[in-house]
Amino acid sequence: MSQFLLTLSRFTAQKQAASPEAGGGLDRLLDQIGLVGKLIAQDLRRAGLIDILGTTGEVNIQGETVKKLDEIANETFLKAFHQSEHVCAIASEEMEKPVLLSENWPQAQYMLLFDPLDGSSNTDCNMPLGTIFSVVKSKHRDQMPTMDDLIHNGTEQVAAGYLLYGASTMFVYTTGQGVHGFTLEPGIGEYLLSHERIRIPARGKVYGVNEGNYHKWSAGTKKYVEYLKVQDKKAGKPYSVRYSGCLVADVHRILLGGGIYLYPGELDKPEGKLRLLYEANPLAWIVEQAGGKASTGVMRILEVEAKQLHQRVPLIIGSANDVYEAEEFIQGKCES
Ligand code: F6P
Repeated sequence: MSQFLLTLSRFTAQKQAASPEAGGGLDRLLDQIGLVGKLIAQDLRRAGLIDILGTTGEVNIQGETVKKLDEIANETFLKAFHQSEHVCAIASEEMEKPVLLSENWPQAQYMLLFDPLDGSSNTDCNMPLGTIFSVVKSKHRDQMPTMDDLIHNGTEQVAAGYLLYGASTMFVYTTGQGVHGFTLEPGIGEYLLSHERIRIPARGKVYGVNEGNYHKWSAGTKKYVEYLKVQDKKAGKPYSVRYSGCLVADVHRILLGGGIYLYPGELDKPEGKLRLLYEANPLAWIVEQAGGKASTGVMRILEVEAKQLHQRVPLIIGSANDVYEAEEFIQGKCES
């Protein structure tokens, strides 16, 4: 815990004042995302009591069953940003197309992309969940962005972060000046700085992957995961497996303690499962800002060319040395 009591809004305002080139209002936009997080956290806390568990009976653009809480979390974002001076376009995992908010133009200069409820298979069993967000600046000052303007490479992000709804609610973000974590103090409804300048260890002892997919992986991925299980005390192996089914929770553990998370491509699905624009890119920037690495197995996530809003990408993310080693195996440069 930081020595001083610093709220999220005060902290982001101070950072904004220190680098005005980032553009005005980013601090207030982050604050507004924090508000959305509080509302989602409140729903999650009471979910078992107010009939909002289970599915809506619909399937989203990704072909996944929509949970009631997915829809509620998405609606909460829409309500919070519909009338806002910060955001002129939004895109969500839950919506096939972006929503352009021309009523907020021209004051609003940012575009917001998000996965409102990450790990939603965890909703019905009181397991951790998350929200992931990515912010980019509209390229044009003199015209409303188009739907295509939301499709951008990870290097263009101006802010990125996540909310983790676990035993406590956390807000973790970067604007390119390090990674900072805040814990929601429920008694006063404020996020307080709890993890300033997070640094990820260069190597960890934990890996997170859905090993049920083992037989669908490439030979290199299989060899890498086998290698992590070899008894080799000197090299700190075998690693322990930690996999919650919530990307945010698994990456958060690794951000704080080191290690590696993988959602690799599969033989008949080389693009993997996770979404580039609102899952992989924001988490990649967070992890890089903390000193780690994020890769597809062959290239840096942040440099992957974005072509579609709901594009998928393999994700290998975590401690720099672990991710580097995984790349060596995946590219066939290392056998054991
Ligand atoms: O959004 C995708 C997600 O729910 C992640 O949070 C999680 O890491 C992953 O999918 C789990 O996928 P699977 O059930 O295939 O392991």
